[in-house]
Amino acid sequence: MSVPKKIKPLVAGNWKMNGTGADLRELRRLHAGLAKHKFGCDVAVCVPATLIHRLSGMKFGAKIMSGGQDCHGAEKGAHTGDVSAEMLKDAGAKWVIVGHSERRAEVKSGGHGETSKKVRDKVLAAQKAGLRSIVCVGELLAERKSGDTLKVVGAQLRQSLPDTCSAADIVIAYEPVWAIGSGLTPSVEQISAVHGHIRKALTRRFGDAGAAMRILYGGSVKPSNAAELMAIANVNGALVGGASLKA
Ligand code: PGA
Repeated sequence: MSVPKKIKPLVAGNWKMNGTGADLRELRRLHAGLAKHKFGCDVAVCVPATLIHRLSGMKFGAKIMSGGQDCHGAEKGAHTGDVSAEMLKDAGAKWVIVGHSERRAEVKSGGHGETSKKVRDKVLAAQKAGLRSIVCVGELLAERKSGDTLKVVGAQLRQSLPDTCSAADIVIAYEPVWAIGSGLTPSVEQISAVHGHIRKALTRRFGDAGAAMRILYGGSVKPSNAAELMAIANVNGALVGGASLKA
């Protein structure tokens, strides 16, 4: 099996529940900035569902691809307030984040209690609609402390991915829950260990496709640490929350 020499990195922004139409200005600035520099990465911004159509209309083409932050696992039906993968695609999205820890989090702590099985249904729905998925995995602080990180991440990965995954339609994002929005980041060794583990699991299960899949790091990525994080082995880009709100 051949491991591809160069995987084109992906930098994806996750605006979460932030932003109205006026904030799309930031993406004009981003677009202008990208045009000035030689930036060898794919760029996507996962905006609130209400902005996808407007972002798509800004005609950034492949320079800034638009994405959603979640989709329902069903094609359509009685799911008030939910958005299907096909609807995101219809609005112009190319990507969708699935299984973000803020959605996996328990309902009592403000999340949606999404299981990996549910995440898997969403990946399947996205594939059916022709959307690419950014599948998030990551451990809680308690799991990190008890030494269960690799076990937790391995199980999330196994259960969240369907058997039909290609490097073109699936990107993994490792986001330690305790690093999200906290300003904390794991050490280079810790990130390298988890990304190496994910790469091995992907390659074992999907062969060459697994070897070529992008594995993003996410959790308090900002201008001051991005270069160092992106230089770690098996880190093929970043999923950026708070810092992506500024061009
Ligand atoms: P953060 O969020 O960059 O604000 O830590 C990352 C994420 O939740 O995707």
